[in-house]
Amino acid sequence: MKETDLLNVGVLGAGPISQAAHFEACQKARNVRLFAICDQSSELLEAVGAIYQPEKRYREFDEMLADSDIHAVIVATADQFHVAQCRAALRAGKHVLVEKPLGVSVEEIAELGAEVEQTGLVLQAGHNRRFDPGVAHAHSFVQDELGRMQSYRGWYRDSTSRYAMTDNLQPLIRHSSQARRPEGDPKRDREKYFLLTHGSHLLDTGRFLAGEITAVRARHNESFGAHCWFIELTFASGALGHAELTVPCRGDFEEGFDIGGEFGSVRGRLPLTWYHKCGEVECFSVRDGMYRRPLGADAFSYRLQVEAFADVILRGVRQTGAGVGDGLACMQALVAVARSVEQGATVQLRDVTGGV
Ligand SMILES: NC(=O)c1ccc[n+]([C@@H]2O[C@H](COP(=O)([O-])OP(=O)(O)OC[C@H]3O[C@@H](n4cnc5c(N)ncnc54)[C@H](O)[C@@H]3O)[C@@H](O)[C@H]2O)c1
Repeated sequence: MKETDLLNVGVLGAGPISQAAHFEACQKARNVRLFAICDQSSELLEAVGAIYQPEKRYREFDEMLADSDIHAVIVATADQFHVAQCRAALRAGKHVLVEKPLGVSVEEIAELGAEVEQTGLVLQAGHNRRFDPGVAHAHSFVQDELGRMQSYRGWYRDSTSRYAMTDNLQPLIRHSSQARRPEGDPKRDREKYFLLTHGSHLLDTGRFLAGEITAVRARHNESFGAHCWFIELTFASGALGHAELTVPCRGDFEEGFDIGGEFGSVRGRLPLTWYHKCGEVECFSVRDGMYRRPLGADAFSYRLQVEAFADVILRGVRQTGAGVGDGLACMQALVAVARSVEQGATVQLRDVTGGV
């Protein structure tokens, strides 16, 4: 059921992520109206417009930004476009929910951060795992009951069967040769692309649950077309940390974490996000000697993330989604992983510059 006070959202980009997640998330969100869709490709605009029936359709982003009925935009375009498009949206007075990774270099995200602060507008990065009710439960448990954290271990293994699963779980995705793409096909460098696109989930979840990462020591192995990173994480808290990214693994999709602490432990196993199913998360507390596991039947994380974004703007609720500082810290961690692989040494996040 829709609430009476709705955030009018314009979605920039009618590519796969909008078709699989954002359009439906906005339509179903209790506090959001899918007001406009913008894509340079007229064939995509026509196809998705017929399904989702927004009030307005735009081919030019500037024209959508000039629409005073729009309160906020979702930037769902290629990573290389994110920062410039976020900046244009902020300058037009719009709040922004931008897909992850927030950008492609430490400097551009840091500059954007300064601008977000000046405007007072809300910018949230689309690290949707935070809105899996299992992950949210683990976060609360860590904050309220775990006590001091001793260890964090996280992993993300993309599956060779991913597309067989997503083809069944997502609507038929339409593609267009008219779509606007960054120059030089950045996805061709698989090592960089996998680290950016999948590593951003792995490392944001690690930061969300275990706090600031200050340094990394990473090793990378590319064999038989698969990439694997083993990453030793240093947390500001002193907890020991390890993260693994494997893309693709010859097996099922696996994403999860194990946490050990002073007064309990956490065990998290997340399904492929497109099942929209709550992660299997169990928290053991020494206080009552019990395991607790949320059911979280409602786990459409993309809808929950846009609802939380709208709540911050409409009702002044505290931001739980990733802010620009989180997007920057995630990028620093990703760049530190890439530099550590190149140098074979531990890299401090505060020292990194550039992109992966
Ligand atoms: N959160 C997740 O789980 C998740 C999953 C998949 C992708 N993503 C992220 O989503 C983002 C988009 O991915 P995608 O595969 O949908 O991208 P895509 O490049 O295939 O599609 C983006 C669309 O935006 C349009 N566009 C770009 N700039 C435009 C402009 N200035 N004016 C009008 N139209 C413009 C293009 O024409 C294109 O149709 C990426 O950052 C990706 O990392 C996130």
